Amino acid sequence: MSERRWLGTIGLPDVGGELTVAGWVHHRRDHGGLTFLDLRDHTGLLQVVVNPAAAAEAHRVVQRCRLEFVVEVTGTVGRRPAGSENPQLATGSVELAARRVVVLSAAEPSPFAIDDERAVDEAVRLQYRYLDLRRPRMQRNLRARHRFVAGLRRSADALGFVEVETPTLVPSTPEGARDFLVPSRLRPGHVWALPQSPQLYKQLCMVGGLDRYIQIARCWRDEDLRADRQFEFTQLDVEMAFVEEADIFLAVERMIADAWELAFGSRPPTPWPRLSWADAVARFGTDKPDTRFGAELVTVQDAFPATELRLVRSALAAGGTVRAIRVAGGASIPRAELEGPWQELARAHGAGGVAALERRADGWQGPIARSCSEPELQRLGAMTGARPGDLVCLVAGAEPAVGAALGALRTHAARRLGWAPEGRFDFLWVTEFPMFELGPDGGLQPLHHPFTQPHPDDWDHLGTDPTRVRSRAYDIVCNGVEIGSGSLRITRPDQQAAVFRALGLSDEEIEARFGFLLSAFRHGAPPHGGFAAGIDRLVMLGLGETSIREVIAFPKTQTGHDPMTGAPSRATPAQLAEVGLRLVEPPGAARSGAGVPPAGPDGV
Ligand code: AMO
Repeated sequence: MSERRWLGTIGLPDVGGELTVAGWVHHRRDHGGLTFLDLRDHTGLLQVVVNPAAAAEAHRVVQRCRLEFVVEVTGTVGRRPAGSENPQLATGSVELAARRVVVLSAAEPSPFAIDDERAVDEAVRLQYRYLDLRRPRMQRNLRARHRFVAGLRRSADALGFVEVETPTLVPSTPEGARDFLVPSRLRPGHVWALPQSPQLYKQLCMVGGLDRYIQIARCWRDEDLRADRQFEFTQLDVEMAFVEEADIFLAVERMIADAWELAFGSRPPTPWPRLSWADAVARFGTDKPDTRFGAELVTVQDAFPATELRLVRSALAAGGTVRAIRVAGGASIPRAELEGPWQELARAHGAGGVAALERRADGWQGPIARSCSEPELQRLGAMTGARPGDLVCLVAGAEPAVGAALGALRTHAARRLGWAPEGRFDFLWVTEFPMFELGPDGGLQPLHHPFTQPHPDDWDHLGTDPTRVRSRAYDIVCNGVEIGSGSLRITRPDQQAAVFRALGLSDEEIEARFGFLLSAFRHGAPPHGGFAAGIDRLVMLGLGETSIREVIAFPKTQTGHDPMTGAPSRATPAQLAEVGLRLVEPPGAARSGAGVPPAGPDGV
């Protein structure tokens, strides 16, 4: 059998040769007694011409071919007649004169055209994902993803890492999300969890002497889905023994830069800047700063030393703060927009609102401008660097709401005014995260996970004021998106138990849930640390996509179902009986399809 040629590779050097090719019918037209097929595969299109006088049977077959039929064509490559070349097409100088055409598979009419010309509703795309995958955008994305993962593996191998497959039926790992549970048939009433990450297994690999571990690891988290979140996603998971932060940073930067270069053709310059968590929050109002543009937060309360302005007075009297950002060119934004969506955004982040002051050549404009004295406005202008045509967004109140609101307004302004240069990727490390935060119920919870090493200077605060404890945890952020996170780990059983206790676990719970880990730490645990990066998010960014669904072959919709297979499906009584479960119907659920969101435009 001759070697199959990709369609897009056929050109003038092939003229005169006989070839057998195959692909999907992209287009068919009859013209001057001849039938033309545009045949498509992932490399492009090839024109096939069928002349009834020369190939009567082939012509009969071709008359039956509709769009998306899969056909095999044997014929001779010829130069296209002068004037009929298509310079838009890589194969545009040649055509294949068919001698034989075989239909390999018929096709029903497609619900959408297999091209990128028209936008197609995402619910329909996901219902017919196998057709969507044929489109150039998905072909490009999945092939880039393949190169990215290949690049990671190649780079990790060169750095001496060993890929280890850890189990996917595990006890629950605390990563902060809900687990997907799998009932056990052999031990009725018991469950496995699908791993939220291989965290504990990779640490056990370190105890096991595999001192440079990687895994392209599938992880599962039952959380609300968003553009950058799926139930199942893939991490580049890394762990290293006998290292400090700097060694981990170096290895991770190298792997990501190598893979990025292979997948996207450009290498992000390394090393990446480092910013402490405290500085990130102070300067950008977030621990995921987009550093492609300025508009950093400025504390401006000194502009209002003895002010009459109620907004400022009441914030300061309550021990709060007054901060602002300069929105360059923001004076062009209509007042209605500032009083509508901008206010709502500030409130959604816990602030009372935002006062937007427009800097004009002849003064200031805006709801609070009239209540400010001239020296106050002058100081505000000097502190923010506002120039005519700019806007100053001022928020007064208590932290962290003030910072969070300004941080959100800053990113919103950047999107609205197009500040972020296309094609630029600002990677940075955010370091020294707090070890704990207060959860919605006021309880202490780890900001990363409880295996993270507290900062050596802060152990004393663990028993007194745990929210003051910094950690040796770090994130990578790129263009305002959290790409990954990691930390140096605790390896002393007493210290690990102390952190669990600070989180409210009893000694019995610690032993039941983490006894195996503490036992491993008592058997010679090397100092270690690691990192995990979201591959879906990295590939999404590199390709300029805004949703990870565009870089995942078969994602779930945003409401968490699969319109193609209809999953999740109801468990049958036999399945439930086998694992010893009885169903409690949720209130109001109908017998069939309960909990499965409808497919359709709203289903995504
Ligand atoms: P973390 O929980 O921060 O760390 O996860 C690491 C990275 O995984 C990606 N990610 C997701 N991507 C898509 N959908 C999701 N639902 C989702 N959740 C997380 C993000 C995130 O930054 N075990 C630790 C790492 C370590 O300490 O070594 C961990 O999993 O890009």
